[in-house]
Amino acid sequence: MSEGAVKKEVKPRKFQAIRGTRDLLPPETALWNRVEQNAHEVFGTFGFGEIRLPIFEPTQLFARAVGGETDIVSKEMYTMPDPETDHIYGLQRSLAEWDLEVGNFENADSFQGLAVSLLVFIVRAQEEKVVGFDFEEVGFEAVSEMTLAVAELRGLISKHSQSGDASTWNLVAEQVQRIKLANDRLTVGEDISLRPEATASVCRAYIENGMQQLPQPVKLYYMGPMFRRERPQKGRYRQFYQIGAEVLGGSDAPAIDAEVIEMVMTFFDRLELQGVQLGINSIGDRNCRPKYVELLRAELLKVKDKLGADSQRRIETNPLRVLDSKLESEQGIIDTLPHIADHLCEECAAHYAAVKHQLEMRGVIYRENWRLVRGLDYYMRTTFEITAQGLGSQNAVCGGGRYDGLVELLGGPPTKGIGFAIGEDRLILSLQESGKAPAQQGRNVYIAWMGERAHATAIRAAKDLRKAGFSVELPPVEQKFGKALGQADKLGAKYALILGDNEVSEGLWTLKTLADGSQVKFAEPDLLEHLRKQRALSS
Ligand code: HAM
Repeated sequence: MSEGAVKKEVKPRKFQAIRGTRDLLPPETALWNRVEQNAHEVFGTFGFGEIRLPIFEPTQLFARAVGGETDIVSKEMYTMPDPETDHIYGLQRSLAEWDLEVGNFENADSFQGLAVSLLVFIVRAQEEKVVGFDFEEVGFEAVSEMTLAVAELRGLISKHSQSGDASTWNLVAEQVQRIKLANDRLTVGEDISLRPEATASVCRAYIENGMQQLPQPVKLYYMGPMFRRERPQKGRYRQFYQIGAEVLGGSDAPAIDAEVIEMVMTFFDRLELQGVQLGINSIGDRNCRPKYVELLRAELLKVKDKLGADSQRRIETNPLRVLDSKLESEQGIIDTLPHIADHLCEECAAHYAAVKHQLEMRGVIYRENWRLVRGLDYYMRTTFEITAQGLGSQNAVCGGGRYDGLVELLGGPPTKGIGFAIGEDRLILSLQESGKAPAQQGRNVYIAWMGERAHATAIRAAKDLRKAGFSVELPPVEQKFGKALGQADKLGAKYALILGDNEVSEGLWTLKTLADGSQVKFAEPDLLEHLRKQRALSS
C-alpha cells in the first residue's frame, strides 16, 4: 500500500446460523430440560432404556429403511461423500486415468507405487471399519488380484533396474493392465448422511449389537437432533429434535402397540400438553395392502384430471400418499376414495380391532383416521399421529407405527417392531403457547461485596451456598452497593447478601429480601440455615 493511502477498514463478517437451524437459549432451555427429564422418568417407568446413536450413518441405511422414493430420502437428506473413502476414490481415479509411457520403467514404477498406496488404504479402511467398508462389498477377489499383479510388476521392474533388460516391457504392460482391470472392479466409497430420523439407526444398532440375544422385546428410547432439508416455517426446521421410542422383538401382540401409545399419552399428560388428539389407523400388510393400493390407483386414475401435480405424480409412485394431501381442492375427491379398513386381510383386521380394544382397556381416547398413511416406507398395520394445540399447520407433535420386517430388511433376523417419535420443537412450542412454560428462574442470592476482606468472605460464602444447591451470583469486581442491588434486581435475585467491611468484622451478614426490601442480620451458620428453611417452605 502506498504511503498515505487510507487504510480501508474491513469489517469482519458477522456469521448467522444456517437457515432452518437455530440456537436454543436460556430460559427456554430450562423447559427443554424439563421435558427431557420427564421423558427419562416416564419412559423409565415403562421399562425403556436409553440408546444414544450416531448423528450420521451410511446413506444406504436410510434409503433402504425409510425408502429411496420417499421425500425424506430423495429430497431432504444432508448427504456427503465419506472423506475417508473419498481419498480412496481419488487414488482409484488416478490409477484409472494413468497413461503408461511405452518403455518408461520409472513411470511404471510410479504406477506401481500408487497401486500400493491404494491397497494400503483399502486394508486400513477395512481394519478401521470405515463406513460401509467391507471386503465383500469392495470386492475381495479384485483386491487379491491387484495384490498379485502389483507383486509381479514390482519384480519385473526390479529385474529391469538390475539388468537394464528392456525386453520385459510387454510383461510390465500386461501387469499394469491387470491392475487397471482389478481397479475397475473395485467398488469403494460410500455416501454418509446426517440422520433424518432414528428408527433405521435403532434397527441397525439392534442387529449390530446382537440385541436379539437379550430378553425380548427390547425397549429403547432416544432423544436428539435430526436433519431434513425442508422448507423452514413455524414448527418446521432443518435441524429439529426428536424424542422417540422403539420396541423390537418377536411379538406383534396388539397390547404392545397399545402400551407404546399409552406411554406417549402418559408423557403428554404429565406435561399438561393441551388439545392432544390421537389419530390411529391400520395400513395393512404385505398381503392386503398391495391389493388396496391397486384399487386406490384405479380410482385415482378416474379422477386424475381433477388432482394437483403432486397427487398426479403420486398415482404412479405412491398412491397412498395422495391421502396425505392438504390441498383444499382435493379434499372432496379424497372423501370418495375407498377406505383401507374395508380391505384389510383377516389377520390385519383382527390385529387392528385388538389394538383398539387394548387402547380402550387403558382408557386412551383415540380417533380413527383412515387417511393416516405416514410418509415412510417401513410402516405396516398400526399407524398413529398425535396433534396438539397452538401449532398452526405443522400440528403433528408425534408420529409412529408398526414396522415388522424392517430389521430383516436391514440384514437382521425376523423381528417385529413398533415405535414413535415426538417432535420436541413442536412439543415445546405448544407448551409455550398454552402458558405451560416455567417462569424464568432468577438467582437465589446476589452477593453485594465491597472491600478486599469482604471479597475473600464473599468467595467463601458463594462456595458454601452453591454447595448447598443455591444459585449464586458473585460479581467479579467491586460495585457500590446501590449499583449491586440494581444488578441483583435485574437478574431476578431473591436475596442480596450484603458484605462490607463492617459485616465482615462483626461476623454478622446482612440479608436483604429484594421483593419487600426487608433486611435481617445473620451470623454465618444461621444464614445458611435460614435460607434452607425458606427454600423448604417455598418448594
Ligand atoms: P416422522 O413423522 O417423520 O416420523 O417424524 C416424527 C415427528 O417429528 C413429527 O410428527 C414432527 O413432530 C417431528 N418432525 C418431523 N420433521 C420435522 C421438522 N422438519 N421440524 C420439526 N419437527 C419435525 C419419524 O421420524 C419416525 N422415525 C417415527 C417412528 C419411530 N416410527 C416408528 N418409530
